[in-house]
Amino acid sequence: MARIPESFINDLINRLDIVEVIDARVPLKKVGREYHACCPFHNEKTPSFTVSPQKQFYHCFGCGAHGTAIGFVMAYDRLEFPDAVRSLAESLGLEVPVEGGGEEKRDTGLYDVMEAAAGHFRQQLKGNERAIAYLRNRGLTGEIAAEFGLGYAPDSWDGLTKSLRSRGFRKEQLIATGMAIPGQRGEPYDRFRDRIMFPIRDRRGRVIAFGGRVIDKGEPKYLNSPETPLFHKGRELYGLWEAKQALRELPRLMVVEGYMDVVALAQAGIRYAVATLGTATTPEHLDRIFRTTREVVFCFDGDKAGRRAAWRALENALGAVRDGRQIRFLFLPEGEDPDSLVRKDGKAALEARIETALPLSEFLLESLARQADLDTIEGRARLVDLARPLIERIPDAVYREMLRERLSAMTRMNATRLGELLGEEAPSPAPRRQAMLAMTPIRRAILLLMHQPALAAEADGELESLRKLDIPGAELLVRLVEFLRGRPEISMAGLLEHWRETPEGAALHKLAGMQLETPEDGMRAEFRHVLHHQLLASLQERHRAERLRALQGKRPSELTESEKAELRELLSAPRTPQ
Ligand code: UTP
Ligand code: MN
Repeated sequence: MARIPESFINDLINRLDIVEVIDARVPLKKVGREYHACCPFHNEKTPSFTVSPQKQFYHCFGCGAHGTAIGFVMAYDRLEFPDAVRSLAESLGLEVPVEGGGEEKRDTGLYDVMEAAAGHFRQQLKGNERAIAYLRNRGLTGEIAAEFGLGYAPDSWDGLTKSLRSRGFRKEQLIATGMAIPGQRGEPYDRFRDRIMFPIRDRRGRVIAFGGRVIDKGEPKYLNSPETPLFHKGRELYGLWEAKQALRELPRLMVVEGYMDVVALAQAGIRYAVATLGTATTPEHLDRIFRTTREVVFCFDGDKAGRRAAWRALENALGAVRDGRQIRFLFLPEGEDPDSLVRKDGKAALEARIETALPLSEFLLESLARQADLDTIEGRARLVDLARPLIERIPDAVYREMLRERLSAMTRMNATRLGELLGEEAPSPAPRRQAMLAMTPIRRAILLLMHQPALAAEADGELESLRKLDIPGAELLVRLVEFLRGRPEISMAGLLEHWRETPEGAALHKLAGMQLETPEDGMRAEFRHVLHHQLLASLQERHRAERLRALQGKRPSELTESEKAELRELLSAPRTPQ
């Protein structure tokens, strides 16, 4: 098999968050700076399995298991190395290159092209009054423009191409980065002309693409770099690198729609805004967001298109719902965007507005409720129908349960019935079953045998008597004793497996759920006691009662001498204590 290039492995490890990888398989609990769980690789009751997000490493103090995210997936999903890599890469939407393949040859020179282009555009901005005036008009200072590396692409067919060619970059590099378009006669020309240029940076701050806005009117308003080996727009967030530079600790991320919104918010002192690049929010975006912060606020127009976009974001966010994460939705007044609002009302007012953002659960239920008439049974059933597939996509059980309860309140349906409609598993019936079964002597005897099959030898000599017991469960006890005779070593699980899917098995399963407080070394004595003083004694008692009744039913003259003796004995014998 072709080798996976080491650079890709490193890249993969860099992009992955081991906490997410493991949490998706074994729910983790945050404890200080680490995450804990009961080790999935050995049996334990108290957690000694720890995951360090800093080290991107897991370690079990109990069994010594340890490794990276890839190592974990190999061990847990039982995959060979290349398959574990493939599976993880897939989860990030990455294609695994092979040695010598196309992706591997990713030209580091391409990053240099982009850096040089950004420098060229910044330079051009300095000398262009019209572009500077435009940015001033939009309320931006030179400082913030510099921070975001804003530039200007002059109205020229080959200004950038010429400049970069003179610095030694090849035509193919300009085309591969999308900065130039191949011309008819083989001469490439500039893609961006007469536009304000917004450099888009990757998570390491490298320029990987541009968005260019027309200064006056023109189509399209924003022109973006095409998909290139460096740039996949469904994965990148404009402004994320800048936000991380500005704030040591990001309290939250606010996802807005436009480049200008991000820059204008930064200008107003709100440094945690990022923008998707003319696409809906993807699961990859969510991944990236939650690797940076625990709270995200999606910001949309209050109009129809805004709500539609918000709903798409919600659908893509369901899979990212986890304990400790907050996902909210903010709708702005119609006709406003974050840029216009923050310029009009200021930072404090906008932040107050952010506080009112709807939690995901509320946005979800409220949107669905708009589509159903909750005053009718049909409408309420429809709401449940609409909610079901969405709720099912939430991986967090507690959150699902919370939503179910909210839904149930809205539809005024009983939560259990709703759970059935939603296809949820019924709450485990084990405790109820336990409460329902009383611990009778026969059940105790069976249970003791299940725990200590060797005890069957104690009952071996009494099989004939036990067969005469006319009480529920006696037959099962007899069958169990017969079965266990030659198998003193069998375990309870082995026993249950033997009778899997049979009525006996079902009965034994029920009994297996009952609590037995007897210590191991007290089981033999207890079994003997139950056997002789409860089960067999009751048999003798019954026998005695029957004989007594039979003998007393006769007239004294009819009794033989031996019957008279028997009667005397029966009447004087102390009753067996129960
Ligand atoms: P908007 O049309 O809402 O513009 O586009 P805006 O962000 O408010 O920009 P200004 O305030 O007029 O300058 C929102 C985002 O949609 C993408 C861009 O990412 C833009 O920032 N878009 C929009 C395009 O990619 N192409 C377009 O032609 C328009
Ligand atoms: Mn705008």
